[in-house]
Amino acid sequence: MAGEKTFAMLKPGVLQRRIVGEVLSRIERKGLKLIALKMMSIPRDLCEQHYAEHKDRPFFNDLVSYVTSGPVVAMVITGENAIAILRMLCGATRVNEAVPGTIRGDLGLDTQKNVIHASDSAESAAREIGLFFKPSEIQAYEDGNEAWYV
Ligand SMILES: Nc1ncnc2c1ncn2[C@@H]1O[C@H](COP(=O)(O)OP(=O)(O)OP(=O)(O)O)[C@@H](O)[C@H]1O
Ligand SMILES: [Mg+2]
Repeated sequence: MAGEKTFAMLKPGVLQRRIVGEVLSRIERKGLKLIALKMMSIPRDLCEQHYAEHKDRPFFNDLVSYVTSGPVVAMVITGENAIAILRMLCGATRVNEAVPGTIRGDLGLDTQKNVIHASDSAESAAREIGLFFKPSEIQAYEDGNEAWYV
């Protein structure tokens, strides 16, 4: 399996607004490859672990409440430089800084509800993939697209 692995999670508003396909389509069209995908409700303790780096920030409780308020779509994505490329596709954290053309820049007005989480480093990706997926849920497969995208 070539390239890095990264973790992404579509926050609850994405299912509520029925724009899951829109977001997944942008990730796929870029040439990144889905190797795990599931809809789930995140238990509060798992969400707190996931966002542990922010536990002292003023927005932490509201963020955890939002992300546990309804089902999310969790995934593992692979590709050359997948971590940085996915962060670029997502755009800036704050929606007033996320430029048009990015997922957050095109699809939201609220920073807490900024559509998508994406791992920010190889260490975060490994940790987050381990929190959300068992190894058996991650699929190794060839689709022949490497010749076109890499
Ligand atoms: N000032 C803020 N007010 C409200 N919510 C915020 C604020 N800053 C960050 N958040 C929320 O916390 C999440 C985690 O913040 P972080 O600084 O890790 O940004 P990020 O790495 O771009 O986002 P994510 O970790 O979700 O991919 C943001 O995606 C956003 O939902
Ligand atoms: Mg982050």
